[in-house]
Amino acid sequence: MIVEQTDVDAFFGELDYPMYVVTTRAGDDRAGCLVGFSTQTSIDPPRFLVCISEVNATARTVSAATHVAVHQIKRTDKELARLFGEESEDWTDKFAQCAWHDGPHGVPLLDGAAAWFVGEIAERLDLGDHCGLVLVPVAVGDRSDGDILTFQQLADLDAGHPA
Ligand SMILES: Cc1cc2nc3c(=O)[nH]c(=O)nc-3n(C[C@H](O)[C@H](O)[C@H](O)COP(=O)(O)O)c2cc1C
Repeated sequence: MIVEQTDVDAFFGELDYPMYVVTTRAGDDRAGCLVGFSTQTSIDPPRFLVCISEVNATARTVSAATHVAVHQIKRTDKELARLFGEESEDWTDKFAQCAWHDGPHGVPLLDGAAAWFVGEIAERLDLGDHCGLVLVPVAVGDRSDGDILTFQQLADLDAGHPA
């Protein structure tokens, strides 16, 4: 049976899931992008998977990084999601356009995030056109009230680097 790409796209397009901004640092390079492909993969030990498109500037920086920060974004802060989802470090400095500070292991923490955790990269998986990062949480901050941005609320954004 041949699967039509348009049918697959229609199925995936109906899904909804939390959106995150994933940031990282390697040496003097900082990077981060909006990520929807992600899930908790284990309870004990705690593990979380985020998937980074190979064409994103973030993929280059994270290839030399040991840790990332995963941020939940407030529903009222679509502008922060837009900055990290539509712009690329390839042509702009995102970190000059938002408030952040150095977090554990030097990863940039976004001041406006609803909640965040920092994860150590335990494994890197070849998942097609995305690289899967299996994360071990090493620090957690802030508490979200659950009112966070999800994919369907951001479906009108144009990704900076279409995968
Ligand atoms: C709704 C939406 C969902 C996205 N999901 C992902 C994702 O799961 N993984 C990813 O690597 N990029 C995803 N992107 C694309 C990046 O956030 C986008 O291309 C960004 O501009 C890349 O920035 P960079 O080149 O600075 O890394 C998504 C973008 C949008 C608008």
